Amino acid sequence: MPGTDNSMLDAKTQLRADHIPNQPFVVLDAFGGFGETWKNVAKKTGRSDIHRVGIDAQDRPGCVKGDNRKWLKGIDLSRFDVIDLDAYGIPYDQVSILFRRNYSGIVFFTFIQAYEGLVPAKLLAESGITKPMRKKCPTIWAHSAWQMWLDWLANNGVKTVWHRSKHRKHYGCFVLE
Ligand SMILES: C[S@@+](CC[C@H](N)C(=O)[O-])C[C@H]1O[C@@H](n2cnc3c(N)ncnc32)[C@H](O)[C@@H]1O
Repeated sequence: MPGTDNSMLDAKTQLRADHIPNQPFVVLDAFGGFGETWKNVAKKTGRSDIHRVGIDAQDRPGCVKGDNRKWLKGIDLSRFDVIDLDAYGIPYDQVSILFRRNYSGIVFFTFIQAYEGLVPAKLLAESGITKPMRKKCPTIWAHSAWQMWLDWLANNGVKTVWHRSKHRKHYGCFVLE
């Protein structure tokens, strides 16, 4: 999905600065890119004890290369205090993997609906929208996508989502215990 790295970087940075652990920690930056967000968090907070491990689908310095879904399914997630899902779209698959693997820690995510507003079929299914309903009018659900996402998180045990939102862009954070 096309996207622009780091529009609204300040909002992303501040959300992270407000919710990271006070002690030294390791973050798995699963949509790592060039690591701009975490560079900014370190700068803003003056912290030098943030250890970042990146994953990116493309060759990026400081990142292992590959589809983060494979890595998230395979690696020992207990090594990471924080997982960052700074996606271009809606990281439904990635959060599902964290739920299935009983990850505990802090999760940051970016939820951006593309211009057509299409919502992942699996999220719609989880929200009771059947395939015939989806086929009849695939774009009508776009208006409810953020609420469906919040409901789905809540149904999976997420108690609070902190977020900074503008139009169809949402930067969020929750804790899995
Ligand atoms: C919004 S950018 C990330 C910006 C980055 N977090 C930063 O602070 O500089 C999204 C990145 O995710 C990567 N990406 C997209 N889908 C991916 C996937 N399934 N697995 C791993 N990386 C992916 C893209 O190559 C892109 O670099």
